[in-house]
Amino acid sequence: MVIWQRVVLALALLLPLTAAQAEQEDGYELWLRYRTLAGVALPKQIALATPGSPTVQAAVQELQRGLRAMAGKEPSLAVLSAGAQPASGAIVLATRTQLAASGGQAAVAGALEGLGDEGYLLRSMCEPNGRRYTLIAANKDIGLLYGAFAWLQAAQLGKRLDALDERNAPKLARRVLNHWDNLDRTVERGYSGESIWNWWELPDIRDQRYIDYARANASLGINGTVLNNVNSKPEILTAPWIAKAAALADVLRPYGLRVYLSVRWSTPLELKQTRTADPLDPQVAQWWRDKADEIYRVIPDFGGFLVKANSEGQPGPQDYHRTHAEGANMLAAALAPHKGIVMWRAFVYASEQPDDRAKQAYSDFAPLDGKFAPNVVVQVKNGPLDFQPREPVHPLFGAMPKTPLMMEFQVTKEYLGFATNLAYLGTLYEETLRDAAPAVAGMAGVANIGSSRTWSGSHFDQANWYAFGRLAWNPQARARDIALEWAGRTFSAKAAPDIAGLMMMSREAVVDYMTPLGLTHLMGTGHHYGPAPWVSDLARPEWNPAYYHRAHSKGIGFDRTATGSNALAQYAPALAQRWSDPRNTPPEYLLWFHHLPWDYAMPSGRTLWAELLAHYDSGVAAVAEMQQRWQRLKPLIDARRHQEVAQRLAVQRQEAQWWRDASIAYFQSVSKLPLPAGVQAPPHSLEYYKSLHFPFAPGHG
Ligand code: GCU
Repeated sequence: MVIWQRVVLALALLLPLTAAQAEQEDGYELWLRYRTLAGVALPKQIALATPGSPTVQAAVQELQRGLRAMAGKEPSLAVLSAGAQPASGAIVLATRTQLAASGGQAAVAGALEGLGDEGYLLRSMCEPNGRRYTLIAANKDIGLLYGAFAWLQAAQLGKRLDALDERNAPKLARRVLNHWDNLDRTVERGYSGESIWNWWELPDIRDQRYIDYARANASLGINGTVLNNVNSKPEILTAPWIAKAAALADVLRPYGLRVYLSVRWSTPLELKQTRTADPLDPQVAQWWRDKADEIYRVIPDFGGFLVKANSEGQPGPQDYHRTHAEGANMLAAALAPHKGIVMWRAFVYASEQPDDRAKQAYSDFAPLDGKFAPNVVVQVKNGPLDFQPREPVHPLFGAMPKTPLMMEFQVTKEYLGFATNLAYLGTLYEETLRDAAPAVAGMAGVANIGSSRTWSGSHFDQANWYAFGRLAWNPQARARDIALEWAGRTFSAKAAPDIAGLMMMSREAVVDYMTPLGLTHLMGTGHHYGPAPWVSDLARPEWNPAYYHRAHSKGIGFDRTATGSNALAQYAPALAQRWSDPRNTPPEYLLWFHHLPWDYAMPSGRTLWAELLAHYDSGVAAVAEMQQRWQRLKPLIDARRHQEVAQRLAVQRQEAQWWRDASIAYFQSVSKLPLPAGVQAPPHSLEYYKSLHFPFAPGHG
């Protein structure tokens, strides 16, 4: 090596690498990503009264892990005997009972009032002698774990750690993920690799990933998980599979996560252990009671059953001319002695029913209000159709005052471009909860978690898991605050405002390039990938995009007013009245509720046709803007994650363009209207877009 090369090499080695260049992050850490905190005095001791339960140990381990990374040094652990004092600046974990036993301050005990079993208090304390410490206190151990995560978040986000005073408790009791994971490890509507559950290797092999999954969920306060697909199989209730579920329950329990199972209505019949699946048959009821007893013997805190019945070909009580309530109540009786619940899904529609599909869940369920057993929760999708980029809130929220309702959101993005499109769902959740919140008793999120290193298929899809968890804890939380918090933890405080800005525009972009102005369900058949508004030949009318947009030469949209299906009448009278007039209907729901002529004058002054085209164009432009914003963020983001997101945004840009072009080509073939000046003609013929097929698109199975 010549001398100048040596000099260059030496200089290069001396150059300090920026954090962004130094790290090749793969996203596995999620938002539990702790990095050195310079210039911050961090606790050197974690103190507690007794070594504690596995849950308290989990809290301690989490604090140790975080402090090790942030302070660069492991904190000491002190189990304090009565009267002993924590070191100055320590973190002290104490339950209410422990506080009382140590003669703890009455004020603190008072602050724990009303925090329930899962709430926590996080408070900077200063004793008369000047000793300072941070108290994490709770009524129950799980509150200590949640409080530990809250402290770690405060540290991670650069909050002042000597002036903490936070009382926090969940507003909803059930905060549950629904895994649509099959027993062969495929995932229905999953875009993040195989199922996280390695069913084959369970119960003996317990992957570290299960613990990391539990940690991530506990950090959000998610407290339940349904392990298997709602399209369930009888085998899940056989002894070997109950043992696998029990092994997972053992791993998840210290983190406050209860295990639930999806069950298939006809299980005892299919396992040939009963002659029928009629819910009123005593033999059937006895089978379920015995099964519940068998499960609780190995999973004493088992949460209960999730049921998809008489929906999309699944068997159910209606096969025996019994109601959903009769079916749910029979299962509820089997679980009640063990305090388990039934989450009975309201996602039903039947092919014989010629009426509007969007009306059917309401028609079937609203009359059953008051008929469900106390331990039944009816689980209702956010909108009346099926997890579309935008739907109005489901009318059952508000129509079943005597029944606890669980809000079901999709976290996985079946209809919003899979894991290759960036769409932050916090805004979708917020918008729905704003309209439904008083009627919501719990939240279910169809998980986007799999075996991929990013967990969720992409870095930004982690934010949807995060937002779901945060809103399940507090349905009044704001999507923007959640985005800022997530971005600050997952990337950095410096990059967070710009990242959050990008996230906040992302879902509306998807709505604009896929289904603007209240259009819906225009995706490719089966896999739901890409545009297919022309499809009109599927067996069931309500499977066809043409059923939903109803476009013809004169106009477009689904008339759900009194002159049409009158689905509007399922909403509160004042709202129904207001929205019966297209002029008083929010533009985002316009074509959901109204069929209008192409030349209908929009508030913007444009015709409906021109407005529709403008939305497609603005969706594409928004993705281009998101790309530019991400590009500008490059200096603040580690190289690998920046590159991985940039690749996905490039795919999204192409897909947005494709959606726009194919939709315009199709709707123009129907409206026969010219494109206004400045609107680009699609580069291909309609026939070309129709010819595209995707037999191997993921998630459909
Ligand atoms: C959608 C989805 C199905 C799923 C169903 C459900 O229709 O495409 O894969 O099974 O919802 O929620 O039950």
